[in-house]
Amino acid sequence: MTMNHIQTENYAALSKKAALIIAGQILSKPGSVLGFATGSTPVGTYEELIRLYKEGAVDFGRVTTYNLDEYYGVPRTDPNSYYAFMHTNLFDHINIEDGATHLPNGSAADPVAESIAYEAKIKAAGGVDLQVLGIGNNGHIGFNEPDDHFPAVTHHVQLTDSTIDANSRFYASRDEVPKSALTMGIGTIMAAKKILLLISGTAKKEIMEKALYGPVTPQVPASILQFHNDVTVITDF
Ligand code: F6R
Repeated sequence: MTMNHIQTENYAALSKKAALIIAGQILSKPGSVLGFATGSTPVGTYEELIRLYKEGAVDFGRVTTYNLDEYYGVPRTDPNSYYAFMHTNLFDHINIEDGATHLPNGSAADPVAESIAYEAKIKAAGGVDLQVLGIGNNGHIGFNEPDDHFPAVTHHVQLTDSTIDANSRFYASRDEVPKSALTMGIGTIMAAKKILLLISGTAKKEIMEKALYGPVTPQVPASILQFHNDVTVITDF
């Protein structure tokens, strides 16, 4: 395991460092394939990337992106879709080509076929150069929830109660929270050449310790990252 753990003072510092790593990746390979995450944690990183773009420090003109996941049964036009999140928080503010951003299609009639097609698209693009990850309170990465095995490829997954609870903060009632999603598998994530894991808030300290320093087990999906050979973790605690 080669793990570079960068400890920062606060969320602003975490976001700045994460954005610099992503910008550095694009500078060293302008046609990079980036893997992006949604959620609260990377919002500041995306703001910093927008700032770097506006300053002329980074150019997204040749970049391709693949997001980790998308709710199933949620159309792109829904403000709670991850598609909308990525456009609002990043894509609409940078010079990325329209056709260069990808998320699983949450409106696909056949979620299994959509998952297979998404996995194939990532492979055809040459794989992900740098994958940005957050971690769930239960150790999930993407929507790979604690389980008795590590799901290998992009798949349709039922969300756990703990994840539905965590996501309900974005909805008027728990009933409205999507119950399933399409997500890259653990194998998809592990195939990325580099991983950038962002962890914010002391509430995640315990799961971080389990994931990075505990036994590798599908009960803590992020623990598999210990077997990846190029992981950078940035924490703000
Ligand atoms: C998001 C994703 C999730 C989040 C995780 C942490 O695309 O795949 O695994 O990274 O749930 O979410 P936040 O950052 O909101 O705590």
